[in-house]
Amino acid sequence: MSDTKTSAPIINEPFVPIFVMGERFDVPASLTIQKALEYAGYQLVRGVGCRGGICGACGTVYRIPGDHAIKVGLACQTVVERGMHIAVLPFFPAKRRVYNIRDARPEPQIFMDYYPEIMRCMGCNTCTKSCPMDINVMEYVSAAIRGDIEKAATLSFDCVMCGLCTARCPGELSQYNIGILARRLYGRYVAHDAAHVREMVERVAQGRYVEDLHQLMAVSMEDLKKIYMQREVEPEMSLDDWAPKSPDHL
Ligand code: SF4
Ligand code: SF4
Ligand code: FES
Repeated sequence: MSDTKTSAPIINEPFVPIFVMGERFDVPASLTIQKALEYAGYQLVRGVGCRGGICGACGTVYRIPGDHAIKVGLACQTVVERGMHIAVLPFFPAKRRVYNIRDARPEPQIFMDYYPEIMRCMGCNTCTKSCPMDINVMEYVSAAIRGDIEKAATLSFDCVMCGLCTARCPGELSQYNIGILARRLYGRYVAHDAAHVREMVERVAQGRYVEDLHQLMAVSMEDLKKIYMQREVEPEMSLDDWAPKSPDHL
């Protein structure tokens, strides 16, 4: 996440005026745009999800007085600024090609076939500058143009589908849908088979966890919370061969 887009300005005043679709509200200066909207009385039923910069539902366009630039960011990650004019962009009508990934082939030409407008990219880099996830969007679009599925998939991996790059693109590309095509192709046809995932899927299919699930469904909510809190969690810095002390649930 970009510091310039998400870090709070130096706060030396408790409240700042913001303008939501032209209407002024005075809100605490420490709030994110999302919290400021709620403080102002808006009930957010669209354009909100995780509240943590992950779901991409809260794309927002804003402008600061005295600055010619239109800025974009995630409402849940961007702190309000004095005089900010805000319009939330909860959905952007981007092109999304419908296809069955079983029929799609991992061939370099596929991006051109499904999204021929990809060739309209003029290399302006506006998409990269718009991205709240600091993804090099232009670079993954370039990789897709070259038919490099792996690179397009890897570079776009952190995309939260907020649509802000698409909203700003002068070439009218749907970058994030191109990125997800790359990742779907990569996951299905290019990435190495993950043996541990296959084994786990087989165990689930064989009913290995049915009894465990029935036991969990029978306990009270309070006990369920205790079980959850006491579960063994893999440490963040564990080695590849980490395994839980008890193999009962493997
Ligand atoms: S904003 Fe559009 S035209 Fe500009 S570099 Fe990105 S994809 Fe290409
Ligand atoms: S690549 Fe586009 S859709 Fe994805 S997070 Fe960045 S701006 Fe949002
Ligand atoms: S609410 Fe999910 S990214 Fe902002």
